[in-house]
Amino acid sequence: MQNLPIRPRRNRQNATIRSLIEETTLHKKDFIFPLFIAEGTNQKQIIPSMTNIFRFSIDLLLEEINDCMRLGIKAFAPFPNISENLKNSTATESYNPNGLFLEAISQIKKNFPDCVLFTDVALDPYNSDGHDGIVHNGQILNDETLEVLGKMALAQARAGADFVAPSDMMDGRVGYLRTVLDQNNFQNVGILAYSVKYASAFYGPFRDALASAPKFGDKKTYQMNPANTREALREAQLDINEGADIIMVKPALPYLDVIKSLKDNFSLPIAAYNVSGEYAMIKAADEKGWLDGEKAMYESLISIKRAGADMILSYFAKEIAGHL
Ligand code: PBG
Repeated sequence: MQNLPIRPRRNRQNATIRSLIEETTLHKKDFIFPLFIAEGTNQKQIIPSMTNIFRFSIDLLLEEINDCMRLGIKAFAPFPNISENLKNSTATESYNPNGLFLEAISQIKKNFPDCVLFTDVALDPYNSDGHDGIVHNGQILNDETLEVLGKMALAQARAGADFVAPSDMMDGRVGYLRTVLDQNNFQNVGILAYSVKYASAFYGPFRDALASAPKFGDKKTYQMNPANTREALREAQLDINEGADIIMVKPALPYLDVIKSLKDNFSLPIAAYNVSGEYAMIKAADEKGWLDGEKAMYESLISIKRAGADMILSYFAKEIAGHL
C-alpha cells in the first residue's frame, strides 16, 4: 500500500456520499423555455434541425404551455414565425397589435397569468432583410433601429410581457427601451438584456425555425467577435448602467468563461442561452447512437449553471423538467 493520507476518491465511494458533496444542482425553476409560434390553427410543425421542438399555432401552444406549467416550467421566451409576405424593410409587423406575436402574448397571459414571459425585441423575424436592425445601403442603422425597437417593446408590454428581451445588439437600446417603458407607465416591465451576444454559427437551427437568416452578409457589425471577453465586460457594464434587470450571455457552452467572468464582476442576475445549435448537436449525435443524449443534456446544463448562470434558456427545459 502507498502512504496516501489524502484520497479524494473517499468522497466518491457511493451515490449518497457523491450527492452530499455535490456543489451544483439543477432545479426546474432555473429554466426558461423558448417557444416557436406558427400561424393558423391546429399546427404542430416539425423543425428538421431541432428534434422534438415544434412550431405551434396559438391553440396548441397554449396546450404546450399547460403541459410545461404542470411539469414546473413557468417561464417562457416565445418567438414568432412570420410569413414572408408580412415582412418588410422596417419590420412594421413587429408592433402590429393584431399580429401573430402580440396576439399569442395576450392569449398566453390571459390563460396563464402566473407564467413569466420574456419577449424578444429585435427586427429579424419581421425584417425582409433578415437582419436585427434596419438596413440601408448594406449598413445596419443603429439609431433608426432604436425607434422600431421602442415601438415593439411598448406593444409587447401592452400585450402582457413581464420582461422585454432585446436580442438585437444595437448600441444604447437598453436605456432607450427603459425610457420608453417608463414614459408609458410600464415601470414594472423588466429588461432581460442579451448583453453579450456573439456572432455564432450555433444559431443555425433557430434561423431555420423562423426562416430568419440574413438575406446578405453576416451579423458581425453588431454581434460580438467570439475571440473577445474584455469586450463582454464592457457590453455588460453599459447595459447595467442603462437599467438592465438581468444580463445574458449567448451562446452558453462555448462561452462558459464569459458567464463566469460576468458572475465574478457584476451583481446582477446572469442568464445564459443554451442555443439551438447546442441543442441540435446533442440530439443529432444521440440519434446516430454516438453518445447518450440524456447524459449529455444533463452535463451541458449543469456546466452552464456551475459557470454561474442563475437561469438558463434552453430547448431542453421541458425534457429535463421530467427528470428533476
Ligand atoms: C435574433 C435571435 C437569434 C437567436 C435569438 N434571437 C439568432 C440570431 O441572432 O441570428 C438565436 C437563438 C438560438 O439559436 O437558439 N434576434
